[in-house]
Amino acid sequence: ARKIVLSEDPALPVAKKIRIRDSTDNRGARVKVSGWVHRLRVQGKDMMFVVLRDGSGYIQCVLTGRQCHTYDALTLSVESTVTIHGTIKVVPEGKSAPGGHELVADYWAVLGKAPGGDDAFGSKLNAESSPDILLDQRHLVIRGETASSVLRVRALLLKGFRDFFDSRHLTEVTPPLMVQTQVEGGSTLFEFDYYGEKAYLTQSSQLYLETCLASIGDVYCLTESFRAERSHTRRHLSEFTHCEVELAFIAFDDLLDMMEDMVVSVIGSIMSHPVGSKIVAELNPNFKVPKKPFRRMNYVDAIAWLREHGIKKDVKDENDVKIGEADFEFGDDIPEGPERRMTDTIGEPILLCRFPAEVKSFYMKKCPEDRRLTESVDLLMPGVGEVVGGSMRISDLDELFEGYKREGIDPTPYYWFTDQRKYGTCEHGGFGLGVERLLAWLLDRYTVREVCLYPRFMGRCQP
Ligand code: 4AD
Repeated sequence: ARKIVLSEDPALPVAKKIRIRDSTDNRGARVKVSGWVHRLRVQGKDMMFVVLRDGSGYIQCVLTGRQCHTYDALTLSVESTVTIHGTIKVVPEGKSAPGGHELVADYWAVLGKAPGGDDAFGSKLNAESSPDILLDQRHLVIRGETASSVLRVRALLLKGFRDFFDSRHLTEVTPPLMVQTQVEGGSTLFEFDYYGEKAYLTQSSQLYLETCLASIGDVYCLTESFRAERSHTRRHLSEFTHCEVELAFIAFDDLLDMMEDMVVSVIGSIMSHPVGSKIVAELNPNFKVPKKPFRRMNYVDAIAWLREHGIKKDVKDENDVKIGEADFEFGDDIPEGPERRMTDTIGEPILLCRFPAEVKSFYMKKCPEDRRLTESVDLLMPGVGEVVGGSMRISDLDELFEGYKREGIDPTPYYWFTDQRKYGTCEHGGFGLGVERLLAWLLDRYTVREVCLYPRFMGRCQP
């Protein structure tokens, strides 16, 4: 058989290189588009439909006649890269395509051929692939429509945070991730060897943010935190993106207002974005933007609620094996399961406030009206539970030393943090929001693993 070779017709106008996102503006003009073959459908011997993807969008391309007869056409497979030249035309009446138009090709060429057969893209994963296979192949999964949509909303969310903080005059900082102090308890620290010294991956940048108040005022950071979480849950990662805020000269109510304003504002920014709102509608059609003010509930009332609703705590033996159940009592930490059942039953965001000092971190300020409690808060969302944790911080030097002592922390490496109470203390507070948890809630994903580019949790550190 004679080898069929395509060539571009020199009589045609020069094709203008465009991105798919600009297709509508270029209808009628001769263009060239490069991208990955997202879908492929062969219709008879003389027609092929290629849905092309270039990261900016999707466009249907129609190849006809000789364009379908080349070796490349006969062996074309999805995920190959191609450049297609032609004219963007509105689709004929009764037909549909992304954007309402299609690229009618007059010439095309392969740039990088993807394998067919046993090694074809489609045989690596499909709808039935197990979660483990999907995670092994995450670098390919992110080419899919759902995963890429999630990544897009993630980017919009990060931008939403920055825009909101900018509007409130908070300054962004990038604290170190390699540290020698803990923030949230020794049990979840990732330890490593730092030139012969013991160091950790940061659990939270909070203490560093606190040092910035006296320098540049109210601050925030959007950076990674690390936790050696040894249990597999739907909402725990070993590495997560932590949005943390610290504000000076505020009272507890100001902190609660700020949390509420931030969540409503960033969600609002996604919902008012054409791409963001479209993706949320696709992935979470029942989503409703939460309204201010959020329900505010005290820890003691949550304990009463759990008792009234017959939600029990597990009683465990010294080996952490469940041996029975009992009613919740004041002083108990409310674990993930009961907390979720309460939040899901109430069915709206809850600002859960004033936890007992024993179940919270060393730095939290006590309530003036009841010294057993702290000015602390967790924001709970239906479907995921806790997405934000925050508090007012201890402002008194002696109280801080008591906090170190209660938690068995050696104050020596915290000298720089202690100095904040020595050189001009102030009432201040802040919070940390888990970006993945907010996203899982917004996009109705089963686990936080689905909203990471490459999730990290126990047993997974690749790709
Ligand atoms: O409640 P946490 O531990 O609070 C702090 O770290 C404070 N120092 C923050 C601050 O006040 N600046 O964590 C805050 C939030 C949680 O509400 C949760 O959303 C998220 O961080 N988070 C995790 N997300 C995913 N995986 C984990 N292992 C997480 N641990 C905490």
